[in-house]
Amino acid sequence: MTRVTVRPFGRGDLDAAAALAAEAHRNERERHPVLVEGLAERGEARDMLAKWLENERTDGAAAFDGDVLVGFLMGERMAGAPPDSYMGQLSHPRTIRIGPRDHAVAAGYDATSVSRLLYRELAAGWVAAGYYNHSVHLIEGNERLQEAWFNLGFGRTVSMAVREGTGPVAGAQAGDIEVREAGSEDVEVLVGLARTLGLHHIGSPIFMYWPVLPEHDAMARSLFSSLLEDEGNPHFVAYRDGEPVGLTSFLKQGFFPPYVSPEKNVYLFMGIVEPEAQDGGVGRVLLDRGMAWAREQGYERCSLHVLMANYSGEPFWSANGFQPVEYTLERQIDERVAWARGG
Ligand SMILES: CC(C)(COP(=O)(O)OP(=O)(O)OC[C@H]1O[C@@H](n2cnc3c(N)ncnc32)[C@H](O)[C@@H]1OP(=O)(O)O)[C@@H](O)C(=O)NCCC(=O)NCCS
Repeated sequence: MTRVTVRPFGRGDLDAAAALAAEAHRNERERHPVLVEGLAERGEARDMLAKWLENERTDGAAAFDGDVLVGFLMGERMAGAPPDSYMGQLSHPRTIRIGPRDHAVAAGYDATSVSRLLYRELAAGWVAAGYYNHSVHLIEGNERLQEAWFNLGFGRTVSMAVREGTGPVAGAQAGDIEVREAGSEDVEVLVGLARTLGLHHIGSPIFMYWPVLPEHDAMARSLFSSLLEDEGNPHFVAYRDGEPVGLTSFLKQGFFPPYVSPEKNVYLFMGIVEPEAQDGGVGRVLLDRGMAWAREQGYERCSLHVLMANYSGEPFWSANGFQPVEYTLERQIDERVAWARGG
């Protein structure tokens, strides 16, 4: 076999890359039916890749064995969401995002070495431009590409998990708990519970940047106020002796990536139980109430994001039927490389 070579992705590479992307999508959709149908077609996969090519923030590379395209990689430079919004401040500024359909290696080729060459080609420019945080999204079960990215120093940080069905939650009982749907008068209750969620994520072993400073409370207040104006975003609060002890909330317009179908799929936004009330059934009661609402609305599945280091959230969702569909893998480059060369 000749040595694989890499060069920048060009328009002429679209057909061959789309064929690889569509085939991967077809295979992964058999395992995860919640993936959108369209990308299994070469035409749709080609349109998606062509859009990437036109996007001035996207860089791409293609790998060849002779004249045959055997792999490709595309990544988008994300400068960062507007900083003055509650969700915007949680996303990493200046990050590279590689979606699950933006990278493929043909069968029969060593995914680890081809991915390494492709990443090498693109990462040089990203790091030179000050993009030190790189993330790759993979569909669950793609061990071959996952191995390739693990070997490049990436680690799993987040999963998008889906519960098929909105049936009742087993064992949903907790003494003296009352669940009420929040109205606009309850915004401060939600801000307080969101602070608890932030503190949990800042703590060990998650160490996520989720600030709970006064200026961030103001952002939370405006987020909750606008969500509660709309009927499709219920926030269910659990009370014990009149005190709020937990929250489970849903968004009509969730954070669905474009390759996951939002059809009859409700997005679970926040789930939190105050530490002193945890592990006593409150979370299950709240989820059960949420699922009852979702059934009434005709939803057939529920999706959420959870950090892999979340020692209570991850096992809770998993025990209640949420299965990972997508993983985010992340690498934070050592910024000292910027000056280590000297001169
Ligand atoms: C996840 C959470 C909402 C669950 O609510 P809860 O009232 O504690 O959960 P319940 O008592 O109904 O269910 C208990 C189950 O939750 C999980 N769990 C809760 N606390 C846990 C802990 N400290 N360690 C490990 N698992 C825990 C386990 O799966 C447990 O089942 P088990 O007893 O059979 O092991 C709550 O623990 C919490 O607020 N955690 C911190 C915030 C968070 O992670 N939110 C989710 C963000 S994606």
